[in-house]
Amino acid sequence: MSQFYPRLTAAEAAAHIDNAQTVAFSGFTAAGAPKAVPKAIAERAKQAHAAGQPFRIGVMTGASTGKSLDGALAQADAVLFRTPYQSDPDLRKSINEGRTAFYDMHLSMMPQAVRYGFLGPVRWAVVEASDISKAGEITLTSSVGAAPTFCRVADKIIVELNRFHPASLRGFHDIYEPEDPPYRNPLPLFRPSDQIGSPTIKVNPQKILGIVETDMPDETGSFGEISPTTAQIGENVAGFLTAELKRGLIPKSFLPIQSGVGDTANAVLHAMGQRSEIPMFEMYTEVIQDAVIALMKQGKVRFASGCSLTVTNAVLRDIYANLEFFRSKILLRPQEITNSPEIVRRIGIISINTAIEVDITGNVNSTHVLGRSMMNGIGGSGDFARNAFLSIFTCPSTAKGGKISTIVPLVSHLDHSEHSVQVIVTEQGVADLRGKSPTERAKTIIENCAHPEYRAILRDYVAMAGHSHSPQTLSAAFGMHLVFGKSGDMRTVNWSNFK
Ligand code: COA
Repeated sequence: MSQFYPRLTAAEAAAHIDNAQTVAFSGFTAAGAPKAVPKAIAERAKQAHAAGQPFRIGVMTGASTGKSLDGALAQADAVLFRTPYQSDPDLRKSINEGRTAFYDMHLSMMPQAVRYGFLGPVRWAVVEASDISKAGEITLTSSVGAAPTFCRVADKIIVELNRFHPASLRGFHDIYEPEDPPYRNPLPLFRPSDQIGSPTIKVNPQKILGIVETDMPDETGSFGEISPTTAQIGENVAGFLTAELKRGLIPKSFLPIQSGVGDTANAVLHAMGQRSEIPMFEMYTEVIQDAVIALMKQGKVRFASGCSLTVTNAVLRDIYANLEFFRSKILLRPQEITNSPEIVRRIGIISINTAIEVDITGNVNSTHVLGRSMMNGIGGSGDFARNAFLSIFTCPSTAKGGKISTIVPLVSHLDHSEHSVQVIVTEQGVADLRGKSPTERAKTIIENCAHPEYRAILRDYVAMAGHSHSPQTLSAAFGMHLVFGKSGDMRTVNWSNFK
């Protein structure tokens, strides 16, 4: 159907984009992110810089992207402003060196922030599609992200028509945009499998500048092998959920699962798949990873609603070769629907996300290393954790070969307060924080989750507070972080230096 629109090369499309304009790209993780046009924009930036001219653009996406987008643009020093999430090493460097202004935000809020005009005008939407009709119906590829809103608000749209993805993907997307306040209706979604929108994004064909044809696989990379630590974390989560089922605190039919990104999330799902006590369940999640597809084929996962198919290319090829098997089992939706606080609370999600550090009263830092350096961003973790039926955070008990304890007196940056965190799981064990005072939480977290090498250090920290509601000593709260900065090892902390 693409014959109805002008054909452009990526360089021709990029030539229309000017310095300081905001460009909103489709994609959620590397899945569904444009590849040819951003690379061509990066080339344009390099040429402009070589000629002594400024060229940097504002970049909006659904979440992180691939190396041809964030990577190429960051390498070309072409990113003025970036939101809402990223995970590219070059872009992270540019952010932490203060060259790129990064606005970290809850992913569910991104589309409405754009519609409300909070993030300024959007000149261009660049959208990866598997098909486009004469009437302006765009069928997306392996993700939805914020693409429907970007297409709505952008002055002009460039479509990357990627032949790697079959046009028969039509039907896998459920495109729905809520009304704007004050009279927004309830989202009519009551089960993970409810389809509430349309299969395509409908745009005014006159907004389409042209089509850039490509045939490029997603740049999603591969998952690491499950390590003994992540395997144990997975076992601990699965064991905890099994015990909750036995106690009758999780309904027998189970509840929808949201699981974060990365190797730990894969290990947790794998462990849940091994437990015969856990019945077949549904996912209402942000990112559908390899483990979900494997569980679907085993008959353990009945349905997965997500924002992206962030799977390895081998798994994506397998899905495309068996589209009819997966058609009734997967729906991809915009991030304001997958991460909607309203739906998360309504359907009773069990959320499982990963922390960088956790403090002794249950506050979680998901984003900043040692309080200063941005890792990736809060992503959807806040959307889910704050509203979940049960909010679980996982992490290994130490980092950097044991020199850092991920359990600290006070988090060096706060993303999820103790009020949004119910259960902490490390490879050491499980701390159930429900109904516990700060002092009781500290005891449970230290004894069940901290690494044995750090337990006495943390007990001594708690003892320093004497009798108080929350066992904190402000002069020492960052003692372990400060000592790491000096000696490179948190184990060398001496509390008497901080009293
Ligand atoms: N202090 C310093 N560094 C730490 C640390 C700490 N407390 N904890 C971890 N690190 C380092 C690790 O050593 C590792 O460094 P390296 O890359 O140099 O080896 C790096 O941080 C990543 O750690 P890792 O254990 O591999 O993390 P991960 O891949 O499981 O990711 C998060 C963990 C928290 C970074 C990631 O889950 C994230 O970005 N979460 C926020 C968004 C989110 O939750 N999204 C899902 C919602 S749907």
